[in-house]
Amino acid sequence: MTSIPAHTLNDGTRLPAVGLGTWPMDDTEAERAVAGALELGYRLLDTAANYRNETGVGRAVARAGVAREEIVVTTKLPGRHHGYEETLASFEESRGRLGLDYVDLYLIHWPLPRVDRYVDSWRAMIKLREEGLVRSIGVSNFTAEHIERLEKETGVLPSVNQIELHPLLPQEELRAFHAGKGIVTESWSPLGRGSDLLRDPAIARVAEAHGVTPGQAVLRWHVQLGALPVPKSASPERQRHNLDVLGFELTPDEMRAVAGRAHRRLGGDPETHEEF
Ligand SMILES: NC(=O)c1ccc[n+]([C@@H]2O[C@H](COP(=O)([O-])OP(=O)(O)OC[C@H]3O[C@@H](n4cnc5c(N)ncnc54)[C@H](OP(=O)(O)O)[C@@H]3O)[C@@H](O)[C@H]2O)c1
Repeated sequence: MTSIPAHTLNDGTRLPAVGLGTWPMDDTEAERAVAGALELGYRLLDTAANYRNETGVGRAVARAGVAREEIVVTTKLPGRHHGYEETLASFEESRGRLGLDYVDLYLIHWPLPRVDRYVDSWRAMIKLREEGLVRSIGVSNFTAEHIERLEKETGVLPSVNQIELHPLLPQEELRAFHAGKGIVTESWSPLGRGSDLLRDPAIARVAEAHGVTPGQAVLRWHVQLGALPVPKSASPERQRHNLDVLGFELTPDEMRAVAGRAHRRLGGDPETHEEF
C-alpha cells in the first residue's frame, strides 16, 4: 500500500494528497473501481448525489478490508435540494444510500447564485457538522464572493472548495484566496477530462524527464501547487499510476511548462451553471 501525506483542514481533520473521482460511473462500476482503489491505497473518495453511484461507493466501503475511520467519503448536495430543511433531508438520503453512520466531507455541489439559497444550505451543513453526522463541510464551484458571503452571514468558512482545476485552468487567483482563508483546494477534472491535454508535447517532455506518464506529471503539478486532485479512473493500472505521484519533483521551469498554454474552462461557469 502506498502511504500518502495529508492536508490538515481548518477544522483539524486530515485529507490525503490524492483522491479518487467516481463520475461518471454507475453503481456497479463505482463499487468495482472503489474496491480496487481502496486496495491500492486510496483513502479519499469523491461521489455526489447527482452521480447516482453513492450506493456502489458505500458497498465498496462496507466490504473493504480497511477501517472505516481511515476512509474519507465525500458526497455533495444537489442543486434541487438547496434550502435549510431540503439540505437536511437530502443529506439523510445520501447517507442512506451510502449506508454510513457519518459522512466525512459534505460539499454544496454548485452555488446556483440565481436560486440564491446556498447560505440556507450552508446553515444546515453547519448543523450537520455540529451533530456529528458530517466530519467536515465544504463547497464546490464557489467563487471568492460566494465564500465571503458564507463567512459574513454565518461566521463559518468551508474547509474545502472543490473547483475545476487543471493545466488548462490553473485558477491562480482563487487558489491564493483559498490559501489566505485556510481552505483546501480540491481539483476536479485534474487530468483535463477527455481533452487533448495528456497528449501535449510539452507535458510529454516533462513526463519523460522523470520516467513517468503524462497523467502522473500533471497530478504532480497539482500536488506541488498545494491542491488535492481527485482523478477518476476505472482502470487499476491508471489508478495505481495516479496515486504514485509523490516520488519525484518538478522544477519551477517544468511547473511553468505544464501550464504553459491557452487557458479555458472544460466545465460550467459557477456564476451561471445550473445543476439540479
Ligand atoms: N464538483 C464538481 O462539479 C465536479 C465536476 C466534475 C468532476 N468532478 C469530480 O472530479 C472527478 C475527476 O474529474 P473528471 O472525471 O471530470 O476528469 P479527470 O479525472 O481529469 O479525467 C478522467 C478521464 O481520464 C482518464 N484517465 C484517468 N487517469 C488517466 C491517466 N493516468 N492517463 C490517461 N488517462 C487517464 C479516465 O479514463 P479511465 O477511467 O479509463 O482511466 C477518464 O476518461 C470526477 O470523477 C468527479 O468525482 C467534480
